[in-house]
Amino acid sequence: MKELRRDILGFDTMVKTLNGDKEYVFFDNAASTPALKSVYEQMEEIMKYYSNVHRGTGYKAFYSTELFDKSREYVKKFVGAAENDTAIFVKNTTEAINKLARIIKANFPDATILISEMDHHSNILPWKKYFRTRWWEVEENGRLDLNKLEEILKEEDGNIKLVAVTGASNVTGYTNPVHKIASIAHKYGAYVFIDGAQLVPHKKISMTTDKDSEKIDFLAFSAHKIYSPFGSGALLGDKKIFSAKDPSCVGGGTIKFVAKEETVWAELPDREEAGTPNIPGAISLALTLKKLSSYGFENLEKMEEELAEYFIKKFKELSKFTLLGDKNRNKGDFSVFSFKNDDGLSPFLIASILSFEEGIGVRAGCFCAHPYLAKLMNFSKEKVEEVKKKIINDEMDKFPGAIRASLSFYNTEEEIDRLFEILKKIEKGEYSQYYFKKDVHAFVPEGFDFHIPEVL
Ligand SMILES: Cc1ncc(COP(=O)(O)O)c(C=O)c1O
Repeated sequence: MKELRRDILGFDTMVKTLNGDKEYVFFDNAASTPALKSVYEQMEEIMKYYSNVHRGTGYKAFYSTELFDKSREYVKKFVGAAENDTAIFVKNTTEAINKLARIIKANFPDATILISEMDHHSNILPWKKYFRTRWWEVEENGRLDLNKLEEILKEEDGNIKLVAVTGASNVTGYTNPVHKIASIAHKYGAYVFIDGAQLVPHKKISMTTDKDSEKIDFLAFSAHKIYSPFGSGALLGDKKIFSAKDPSCVGGGTIKFVAKEETVWAELPDREEAGTPNIPGAISLALTLKKLSSYGFENLEKMEEELAEYFIKKFKELSKFTLLGDKNRNKGDFSVFSFKNDDGLSPFLIASILSFEEGIGVRAGCFCAHPYLAKLMNFSKEKVEEVKKKIINDEMDKFPGAIRASLSFYNTEEEIDRLFEILKKIEKGEYSQYYFKKDVHAFVPEGFDFHIPEVL
C-alpha cells in the first residue's frame, strides 16, 4: 500500500489552510487523477527521443513511432478489444464521443440513439446534436432497469441503432452491467457504446467475452482519469464501421494520396487521427496502464472497495447529510459519493470550508449530469426551471446541488476521517465566515490569501 501511495505524484503535497499548513487530501479523482511518479520519471527519459511519428526518418522518429504503435496495441489489450477493433487516440472521452457520433451519423443518418438519464453531458449532447434521441430513464433509486431497456427497444422496432450508456456513474458510482446491456441491444439490432470514462479507471473490463452477443461494440475513456493526465484518451470499436465512410475529421495523416480532384484515404487508425497526434500522451497512457497492471488491477479494486465500505460506515455517523441515490450499494459500485446538506447549506460553501479549513479537495454542483441530478434530488419541473434561471444568471451561491467525494485506491482511512471530522463541525456550525466572491465563483473566507506562486 505504501509503495502504491508513494507512486502517486504529489500524494504528500502540503497546502495552506486557515488552520496552518496541511497535507492535501485529494477526493476529486472522478474529475481527474494525479500522475504516477514512476511513469512521469520514465517519460522524462523517453522525451529525450521525442520526434513526430510515422512520417519522419532517423533514430528518434523510429523510436517514437515504435513506442506510439506499441502504446496503441497495449491500450487494445488492456480493455480486451477484439482483433477486428481499432483504437484511435483522441484528446478525451468527450472528443471520442463526438467523433463516434459523426461516424455513426455517416453510417446511419436516420438512426435513433438511446441515451440514458444516468449519463454525463458528454454522452448526451453529441447524440442530441446529430440524432433523434430517446431517453432510458433511471428508477427511483437512480439505477437503470434492464427490463425498461428491452421494452424501449421492442417499442422502437429497429429504429434504435445504438444504445449509448455509461459504464459507471460519475455521480453515484453505480456500475452498469455492460455485457448484459450489449446482449439485449444486439437482440434488437442495436450497437452498444459504453462511456468508460469512470468504468475503465475503477474496474477491469473487457470489451469481448466468450459470447459474441455480449461484445461491447464501442468504448471510450480518458487518460487523465486513469493516472495519466497528459491530454490523451481512446476510442475503440469495430474497424468495419470506422472505415465504411469518409473519415470524421480530415487532414494530414488521414490519406494515402491526394490530387486536385482525388483523395485516397489511409487505413485505420491513421484515417481517423488527423494531424500530429499527442504522442507523449499516448505513450504515457500505455505505460500507466502497464504499471497499474503490474500492481494487479484486482488489488487496486479491492483497496478501493475497502475504502468505500469505510466511507459508508463513517457517513452513518452524520446526522445532517444525505447520500444521493440508493442507500444500498451494490457489489461492483465504485467509490464516488454525492451527498447534500439537509439544512440547505450551499454545496459550494461546504466545498470551500473543506478546502480552506482542512485542505480537502472535492467537487460541488451537478457534475455535468443535470438530468440525473434533477432526478436524484427529486426536483419538480418548476424547481428545474427555477434552477435553470439561477444558472443562467450566474447565481452560483443560490444554486442547489451536491458535494462529491471521489476516492481512489491510494486514499487512506485517515484521510476519510479528516473529511468526516470537518463535516461534523459543519453540522454544528463550527466554521469561519465566508462570502461569495463573484469573480472566482466561490465562497471564500474574508482576508484569506492562497499565495499561488507566480510561474507565468
Ligand atoms: C461518465 C463521464 N463521461 C464522460 C466524461 C467526460 O470526460 P472528459 O472530460 O475526459 O472528456 C466524464 C468526465 O467527468 C465522465 O465522468
